[in-house]
Amino acid sequence: MDPALNPYTPGSGRKPPSLQGRDREIDAFGLLVARAKARHYDRGIILSGLRGVGKTALLNHLRAHAERHGWYTVRLEAQNSNAGSRLNHKQLALGLRNGLRKFSRTHAIKQAGERAMEIIEGSSLSIAGVTMSAPNARAADDTLFDVEEIVETVSDLVRPKGAALAVFVDEMQDLDADLTAALIVAQHRANQEGWPFYVIGAGLPNLPAVLAESRSYAERLFLYSSIGPLTADAARHALADPAETVGGSYLSDALNRLVVAADGYPYFLQEFGSAVWELAAAPPFTVDDAVAAIETGTAHLDQGFFPSRWDRATPAERRYLRAIAETGETAPKTSALSITQSAAGPFRAALIRKGIVYSPEHGRISFTVPGMAAFIARQPILDE
Ligand SMILES: Nc1ncnc2c1ncn2[C@@H]1O[C@H](COP(=O)(O)OP(=O)(O)OP(=O)(O)O)[C@@H](O)[C@H]1O
Ligand SMILES: [Mg+2]
Repeated sequence: MDPALNPYTPGSGRKPPSLQGRDREIDAFGLLVARAKARHYDRGIILSGLRGVGKTALLNHLRAHAERHGWYTVRLEAQNSNAGSRLNHKQLALGLRNGLRKFSRTHAIKQAGERAMEIIEGSSLSIAGVTMSAPNARAADDTLFDVEEIVETVSDLVRPKGAALAVFVDEMQDLDADLTAALIVAQHRANQEGWPFYVIGAGLPNLPAVLAESRSYAERLFLYSSIGPLTADAARHALADPAETVGGSYLSDALNRLVVAADGYPYFLQEFGSAVWELAAAPPFTVDDAVAAIETGTAHLDQGFFPSRWDRATPAERRYLRAIAETGETAPKTSALSITQSAAGPFRAALIRKGIVYSPEHGRISFTVPGMAAFIARQPILDE
């Protein structure tokens, strides 16, 4: 098929041609926006799930909806590097400023907007972006109170417009502790005071636990939604619908073959769809096309999606990853891994920090990436 017309979007956070299987979250957020028009405010939303399942795509979709309805939105992608804390503060300050500018223009408000801008610019968020090297207790307090003050001030601005302020945080499990606490506390205050403010977060499956650890009431503060693989039907649509718009079609056996191979994972669907498009001579796409596409698509994944994690692990960490894979379980007990237990703790911690594994419950460990165990099994044992 003509590569110029390839409708699929394998990659990270790329807007899929057809966002399938997320009606529940989209409807819940739609209701939130509709209710804000009537000055009714609900809880924030937390989306959690494995790598490549479509959290970022969904988060961006929700944000676009909020923007269309004149909301004041801020987007933040949390970083957990050494400079992470400073970058996160800076991103939030910048996002608040840009969002406010846009909101003020959309709603033609001037003076009130300028007052809010002064508060944002004078806050520790903006200043911390330049000067703060290591977070300390006082800085954490400043962050807490400043975020609350900004949210309170902005609430008076957005409420009369039937809008709200929403902070969309991607990779939220990586947000530093003081910003996490500040956003949770602000959401808590907002729920009590009726402020039109929402934290809409997305992250790995451990995100709900990270939030609960920060403030135990976080469990009741948000609507938690776990973003999983697509149903077979949604997966079929995710493949077939984009093709149809540009003259492609699948024989139903071919479609089924791809759906089974992708196991409902959006990233894999995009990769396989893209490969079919490149390989097939003409529509309708056949089982042979599908089989060849699965092979090519898997080779792509083995070169990009998986190694981007695997390559970040040290040889010793790889041994730990291999021990998880060898159990054949999705969430094995850490005590049951075939490695020297006494030395395993630091590797486990480092791999969690790198976002390659997470602990689904106490004493257990899982990959954050679907299909990682099978990938590891395909790798030759070299320097581990
Ligand atoms: N609902 C969907 N239907 C079809 N394709 C989707 C859907 N959601 C996302 N995709 C596609 O799947 C891929 C992964 O999406 P995305 O980057 O949003 O996942 P993610 O969960 O944020 O992953 P990560 O944890 O690595 O950040 C992208 O190629 C995207 O275009
Ligand atoms: Mg993402």
